[in-house]
Amino acid sequence: MTKTPLLKVNNLKKYFPIKKGLFGSTTGYVKAVDDISFYVHEGETLGIVGESGCGKSTTGRVLMRLIEPTDGIIEFDGKDLTSLSQEEMRKTRRHIQMVFQDPYASLNPRHAIGKILEEPLIVHGVTEAKERKKKVREFLEIVGLSEYHAKRYPHQFSGGQRQRIGIARALMTNPKLIIADEPVSALDVSIQAQVLNLMQDLQKEFNLTYIFIAHDLGVVRHISDRVAVMYLGKIVEVADSEQLYEKPLHPYTQGLLSAVPVPDPDFQKKQIIIEGDIPNPADPPTGCTFHKRCPFRMDSCMKVTPQLVEQSTGHSVACHLYVSEVDNDIKQLEGSL
Ligand SMILES: Nc1ncnc2c1ncn2[C@@H]1O[C@H](COP(=O)(O)OP(=O)(O)OP(=O)(O)O)[C@@H](O)[C@H]1O
Ligand SMILES: [Mg+2]
Repeated sequence: MTKTPLLKVNNLKKYFPIKKGLFGSTTGYVKAVDDISFYVHEGETLGIVGESGCGKSTTGRVLMRLIEPTDGIIEFDGKDLTSLSQEEMRKTRRHIQMVFQDPYASLNPRHAIGKILEEPLIVHGVTEAKERKKKVREFLEIVGLSEYHAKRYPHQFSGGQRQRIGIARALMTNPKLIIADEPVSALDVSIQAQVLNLMQDLQKEFNLTYIFIAHDLGVVRHISDRVAVMYLGKIVEVADSEQLYEKPLHPYTQGLLSAVPVPDPDFQKKQIIIEGDIPNPADPPTGCTFHKRCPFRMDSCMKVTPQLVEQSTGHSVACHLYVSEVDNDIKQLEGSL
């Protein structure tokens, strides 16, 4: 029997309108998330990587409906979140929590840590103060802090400690899914490993499912079971972690990997350098949106948008290099009809 994923996302889109002029008429759209589909199984970690502006954070926010999707289905634990009322969605959020990149900005500087950690419990109806305080003590210890830290304020902690508090806050409501948006990007390299280890330990202890967002493939490597690579609002490749690092198919993934130092000298020879900047997402290139930067571009890349196609079990790529010429000719014909 195949397992049902905890989260299944189908054809998710988030288009931000671009408004101009006195009356704010819509002149176009930023396609921040443009028709992505993926799943995450319970207890699994899906890494989402890609350069700045490719739509990673928007994906995370849309999944929690902190911003409303333009289109698509978000099936979580058997329920389509897009069909829930605001009130039902508010209740469901106890099962889906976020950890942010900058814990300082996401912790209220005027509140002591104890109060910050109690807040999600109050929001989700834990009325007994004694019970809340007990849980605060318990979770401070779980993330490697102490009871006495409850009385301190965010500025009295180091960056790594603040992220531990951000993680404790996310755990307070016993969530199933944690969306971690660049949780270690703002930390010193030496501290990054500690926080990543903590997150892995917590995952085992509480059977957590993670979506782990990062712009660097190096960071997600050890924590992710599978990795999805995003480029300009689309998933261009998804595979098991090991498969993706050993046999990246998309030139963009190959380029991202070339930027990660690897000890294997043979691998270094296959360096793919991605040149140029990310195109304007309000006016993306035709065909494959990566074609202007791609060292292997062909005619079809400028005309036909490649679809995400499975090449081997669980390894999918959206790239014309892996589509037969006949298929491409047919697609071009279809595109011109
Ligand atoms: N509220 C908004 N209104 C309009 N455009 C937005 C909004 N939020 C994000 N965008 C645009 O959507 C695109 C994707 O942004 P997003 O923040 O999701 O990228 P990201 O991959 O998280 O980048 P980074 O690595 O820099 O965090 C960008 O072009 C951004 O400018
Ligand atoms: Mg982001």
